[in-house]
Amino acid sequence: MDSKSIQVLRIGQRYVRDDRTLTHLCLVSRAFGAELIYLEDAEKDVTGTLEGVNRTWGGEFKVVLGTPWRKLIRDAKKEGRSVVHLTMYGEPLQEVMPRLRELDRILLVVGGPKVPGKVYREADYNVAVTSQPHSEIAALAIVLHEIQSGEELKRTFHKSRLRILPSARGKRVVEN
Ligand SMILES: C[S@@+](CC[C@H](N)C(=O)[O-])C[C@H]1O[C@@H](n2cnc3c(N)ncnc32)[C@H](O)[C@@H]1O
Repeated sequence: MDSKSIQVLRIGQRYVRDDRTLTHLCLVSRAFGAELIYLEDAEKDVTGTLEGVNRTWGGEFKVVLGTPWRKLIRDAKKEGRSVVHLTMYGEPLQEVMPRLRELDRILLVVGGPKVPGKVYREADYNVAVTSQPHSEIAALAIVLHEIQSGEELKRTFHKSRLRILPSARGKRVVEN
């Protein structure tokens, strides 16, 4: 699974910035095997939260703020990274998944309320997780899971301060 390099780009802010959604996009990206997320804008709180999560639970997930999305998509394509845009208008996930699983380097793009038309044209794939409107967080989780064929569920995060001992009942946590 680690042979894949998956990065996430969130395009488009709401009129009132929703740092809870942004934090959840970061947490899902990290937990489900992406190496970093690009956000257009966020409170330092979002990056601070993720730094804290890395310190406690391990890994080196990164949050990168403020790089213009046009540059990120251009650079991704230049370096041979495939741009996979998640949108309800795209091709059904179940039809494109065999091709997506072949890719080693991916920039997964999710939107906010309005995504510029150029993103649809520049993407190598426009992919729908059902042709119904729902949530960038849900779409991202499902696509990360499917692209990695579920292997990300077994991932370990090194250099953590705490580690969970999975348990059928209650909470078991040990210090490393
Ligand atoms: C609030 S939704 C906006 C829905 C938007 N009209 C669209 O193109 O999917 C915000 C983001 O969630 C993701 N999203 C929502 N529904 C989706 C679906 N069925 N398939 C894939 N992505 C979806 C897209 O990345 C979208 O930009």
